[in-house]
Amino acid sequence: MFSLSSVFVGLLCVATASAQLITGAFTCEAAGEYTLCQNLWGAAAGVGGQNSTLISTSGNEVSWMTNWTWANGPNNVKSYANVESSTVKGAQLSNITSVPTAWNWTYATKSSDIRADVSYDIWLGTTPDGTPATTASSYEIMIWLSGLGGIQPVGSVNTSGIQIGGHNWTLWSGPNANWEVFSFVSADGDITSFTSDLNDFFEYLVANQGVSTSQFLQAIQTGTEPFVGSADLIIESFSVSLS
Ligand SMILES: *[C@@H]1O[C@H](CO)[C@@H](O)[C@H](O)[C@H]1NC(C)=O
Ligand SMILES: *[C@@H]1O[C@H](CO)[C@@H](O)[C@H](O)[C@H]1NC(C)=O
Ligand SMILES: *[C@@H]1O[C@H](CO)[C@@H](O)[C@H](O)[C@H]1NC(C)=O
Ligand SMILES: *[C@@H]1O[C@H](CO)[C@@H](O)[C@H](O)[C@H]1NC(C)=O
Ligand SMILES: *[C@@H]1O[C@H](CO)[C@@H](O)[C@H](O)[C@H]1NC(C)=O
Ligand SMILES: *[C@@H]1O[C@H](CO)[C@@H](O)[C@H](O)[C@H]1NC(C)=O
Repeated sequence: MFSLSSVFVGLLCVATASAQLITGAFTCEAAGEYTLCQNLWGAAAGVGGQNSTLISTSGNEVSWMTNWTWANGPNNVKSYANVESSTVKGAQLSNITSVPTAWNWTYATKSSDIRADVSYDIWLGTTPDGTPATTASSYEIMIWLSGLGGIQPVGSVNTSGIQIGGHNWTLWSGPNANWEVFSFVSADGDITSFTSDLNDFFEYLVANQGVSTSQFLQAIQTGTEPFVGSADLIIESFSVSLS
C-alpha cells in the first residue's frame, strides 16, 4: 500500500525534475510567453557542458538559470542558452512605438577566468517571420549588459560614447554570414538591473546606421554567450513586450 501523500510527492518530483531542467545540446522547453533553449551551438570548439533550468513564469515575466563550464577555444562562443519571446515578433519597425523590457540577473558563482557576455540578441529581416541566423536575417542587434574577460563582439568599434536609456554604450559593427551585426556594449560595466525601451536602440540605428523602418522584428532572445570558465547565471526576472 502507498499513501496519498507519497503519490503527490512523486508527482511533484516529476514536475520539477523532468519538466524544468534541460540538459540536451539543442533542447528547448515552453516557458510561459517564452521558449527556453540550451542552444549549445559552439560546443565542438571546446570541452565542457551546460544545463539550464526554468525557475518560474508569471504573466510576461520569466525566471531561469544556466550552469556552465567550458574550456579550450578561448575566442569561441560555446553556446547561447536563451529565452525567446513568443509574443514580441512580426511587427514592422515603422509600426512600433515602444518595446519595454526589464531584466535583472546575477552570477551566483563565476570562475576568476570567466569570458562571457550577458546579452540581448535581436533579429530583423525583410519578412514578418524568419528563423534567427538564417538567409531570412538582415540584421542581428546585440545589447551586451555584461562582457567579462576581454571578449569582443563581431566586427570593430563603430561609435563610442552613445547614450541610450540612461546608459553609455560602445557600438560595434561588422558582417556575419549574410547579415550585419550591431552590438551595443555597456561602457558602464555590468548592468545587472536593466529597464529600458528597446525601440530607442532601433531608432538610433534607423537614424545613424541606415537601418530601414520597413524591417520586421523577427525575434528577441536574451541569454548568455560563454567562451571559457564556469558560472551559475541566475536570471531573477526578464520581461519584454511590444506596443
Ligand atoms: C549537466 O547535467 C548532466 C546530466 O545531469 C551532468 O552530467 C552535467 O555534469 C551537468 N553539467 C553542468 C555544467 O552542470
Ligand atoms: C552547478 O553545477 C555544479 C556542478 O554540477 C554544481 O556543483 C552546482 O551546485 C550547480 N549550481 C546550481 C546553482 O545548480
Ligand atoms: C501595423 O499596425 C496596425 C495597427 O495596429 C496593424 O493593423 C498592422 O497589422 C500592423 N502592420 C504590421 C506590418 O505590423
Ligand atoms: C559604421 O557603420 C556604418 C554602416 O552602418 C559604416 O558606413 C561606417 O563606415 C562605420 N564606421 C566605422 C568607423 O566603422
Ligand atoms: C555615462 O558616462 C558619463 C560620462 O562619462 C558619466 O558621467 C555617467 O555616469 C555614465 N552613466 C552611467 C549610467 O554610468
Ligand atoms: C528583479 O525584478 C523583479 C521583478 O521585477 C523584482 O521583484 C526584483 O526585486 C528585482 N531584483 C533586483 C535585484 O532588482
